[in-house]
Amino acid sequence: MITNTELEYKGNVFPSKIVSLDKDVDTLLFTTENDVALQIKVIRDSVLRFRYSTTGIFANDFSYAITKYANRGYNKLEIDEKEGVFVISTAKLICEVSKVDLKIRLFDAATQELINEDELGFHWEESYEHGGDIVKMSKVSQDGESYYGLGDKPNHLNLKGKRYENWVTDSYAYGKNTDPIYKAIPFYTGLINKKAYGVFFDNTFRSFFDFAQERRNVTSFWAQGGEMNYYFIYGPKMTDVVEYYTDLTGKPHQLPPLWALGFHQCKWSYYPESKVKEITGTFRKLQIPCDAIYLDIDYMDGFRCFTWNKEYFPDPKRMVRELEEEGFKTVAIIDPGIKIDKDYWVFKEGLENDYFCKRADGPYMKGKVWPGECYFPDFTNPKVREWWSDLFKGLIEDIGIKGVWNDMNEPAVMEVPNKTFPNDVRHNYDGNYCSHRKAHNVYGMQMARATYQGLKKFSYPKRPFVITRAAYSGTQRYTSTWTGDNIANWEHLWIANIQVQRMAMSGFSFAGSDIGGFAEQPHGELFTRWIQLGIFHPFFRVHSSGDHGHQEPWAFDEDVTVIVKKFIELRYQLLPYLYTAFWNYVEKGTPLVKSLVMFDQEDMHTHYRTDEFIFGEHILACPVLEPNAKGRRMYVPRGKWYDFWTDEIVKGGKEMWVDADIDSMPIFVKEGAVIPKYPVQQYVGEKDIEEVTLDIYYKKGKENSQFFDDAHDGYDYTKGRFSLRTFKLTGRKDQLIIQQHKEGTFKAAYKRFKIQIHGLPFEIRNIQLDNQTIQLDHLKINGWQTMVIDENFTELDLSGSL
Ligand code: GLC
Repeated sequence: MITNTELEYKGNVFPSKIVSLDKDVDTLLFTTENDVALQIKVIRDSVLRFRYSTTGIFANDFSYAITKYANRGYNKLEIDEKEGVFVISTAKLICEVSKVDLKIRLFDAATQELINEDELGFHWEESYEHGGDIVKMSKVSQDGESYYGLGDKPNHLNLKGKRYENWVTDSYAYGKNTDPIYKAIPFYTGLINKKAYGVFFDNTFRSFFDFAQERRNVTSFWAQGGEMNYYFIYGPKMTDVVEYYTDLTGKPHQLPPLWALGFHQCKWSYYPESKVKEITGTFRKLQIPCDAIYLDIDYMDGFRCFTWNKEYFPDPKRMVRELEEEGFKTVAIIDPGIKIDKDYWVFKEGLENDYFCKRADGPYMKGKVWPGECYFPDFTNPKVREWWSDLFKGLIEDIGIKGVWNDMNEPAVMEVPNKTFPNDVRHNYDGNYCSHRKAHNVYGMQMARATYQGLKKFSYPKRPFVITRAAYSGTQRYTSTWTGDNIANWEHLWIANIQVQRMAMSGFSFAGSDIGGFAEQPHGELFTRWIQLGIFHPFFRVHSSGDHGHQEPWAFDEDVTVIVKKFIELRYQLLPYLYTAFWNYVEKGTPLVKSLVMFDQEDMHTHYRTDEFIFGEHILACPVLEPNAKGRRMYVPRGKWYDFWTDEIVKGGKEMWVDADIDSMPIFVKEGAVIPKYPVQQYVGEKDIEEVTLDIYYKKGKENSQFFDDAHDGYDYTKGRFSLRTFKLTGRKDQLIIQQHKEGTFKAAYKRFKIQIHGLPFEIRNIQLDNQTIQLDHLKINGWQTMVIDENFTELDLSGSL
């Protein structure tokens, strides 16, 4: 029997006293009298890896999560011996290892503050049934400590007082308390005394995290096999913790094509071809922007992956081309289950090459999914991934599909109690052969990886676009994701907001929910509120099961269509702002969406907030989550903010009522921000953009903003063909200066910026552009606050009188 609680430690074994210490460059090895080995590796000054063995022997060091591109290197590494402890010091952290029991204490090197400390520390139970150990770690949870992260958990943002499990699970119509669901991201951020640290438990077995639920002052985590292997990541800024974690487990390998940040329309299923065309045609007729249309499982022949139902789609290549001519990218679903059918080429190839998963005693892993009985490729085998990636040649290169959506990759199996493979299924695990107990949580990730490799190959020189439902830490390198089969109700709108924020705090920013709800049918009001939230989610897609009516922007009453259109248009205007934030995510791992606690961890009021979040660097948004609302109360974080709709200035650091009837939602812009905007387009690339608007929000003081741009697809930006503009704003009581610093060699089509100044407290008397005085009537001035200038300006200086 495997225990499910950390506390049931009747069989627990603990390390005894240290008998030796060896050092090898950046790695220390402590060995105890009872043969426990602890390896501490200094990854960087603020990242330490802790790895324990209960026998003194370590297994092959292999991880799907950690990327080879992770930054390594530290400025300082010293080891001292003091009474009772060994002390390891880096430039950021001090780590004490207790000589009697191997317990760890971690301190901030600058302030000597205790940040994190082992309670029982490492302990384990032997697992007779499976071999190996159930490995456990318990740490002291201090009063006032908060916890965040852990992927897609649908509950309160702050994890304190709860226990969670990591076991990737198909979860149709899950709810607030369903656990686990689709993703396993065993990484959390702790916040204590306004200082943040992270713990990444890189163990793919079924694992558990208990945040002071079982015992009030203890946080523990354990797994049903494998090693106690975790990374301690010190901030003290929360954004740094997430950036270091994302660096370790990987940033997306490239920017998404810009169209992937547009609006996507999906349903299970649009078919036949005439239906697809009717949908796309209606978007264009009503002038509602949309970039992607989806084909769910019914496009296939009997749900066989990589085939077409020729009755519904007689000439897919022509259809995809025609859709493309209208500005639509076609995205198609691909599931892991391969139908058992001796006349089906994919099945035959898989069988001939021995690519399918097998049970412990030899038979194939057989399970029911949409096509009926299936076999399943072992995506943990590199040869299988290579084969799988080549299967996309037809879909991508020949037919012209632009994105692939991987579903059911938990892997989901129907009509069986555990909804997935039995534990005894064998996996290659890149040569580290193992059972499903170890491979389960990475199965979907490896499928998405293989799919990504295929798209990367066959989309070249364009960028790949993949979506996955299942994920383990590191999956963000390859793909975007959605939050699975949610429900059309108000609680799920709340959940969607939490999940996307939480995913961003877990290194996986490119996420979104099925807007409107997958199961059941939303009212127009719920749909509208969900679209409003969705414009701030990196992945912006409407999807529904189709069993309960229609979910297109025009499927409700006309008011809904008008409001939804207005918000989708706003998304398209904000694309350059979002793309810049995405570039920061790809470069530095900076989350695209930041919960308030991450925006201002010093302010205790943010620690339990759930609804408000920062989109990119400068926009604050808060969805309306209740029916019949004319507005809502929300917490505006410290600083000064402009109401996006009225330009009214709000001083934050307080909770307040914000009006937001159904055609509005609370949106604020941080003072000092420069927000780049495109004109509305029906799809990315529809227009040659001749002018970019810069919305400039006056601030007394200084603020920096960025605007990244490039060709919106392809890889030229990696060779310097991008443009990164930094705008430095300096505001005084009667002067506003905006300086532009430009990097990169990309030349955009637009030659002008339309400057729109918000909140200017003085009347403009004098304008200097690059040190030349400009006559006011030489500029196109519309009122006092709008002017058009050359995109190459280096300094715009407005002064005037109060
Ligand atoms: C699963 C997916 C859903 C999809 C359906 C049919 O339920 O989560 O998005 O539409 O399968 O493929």
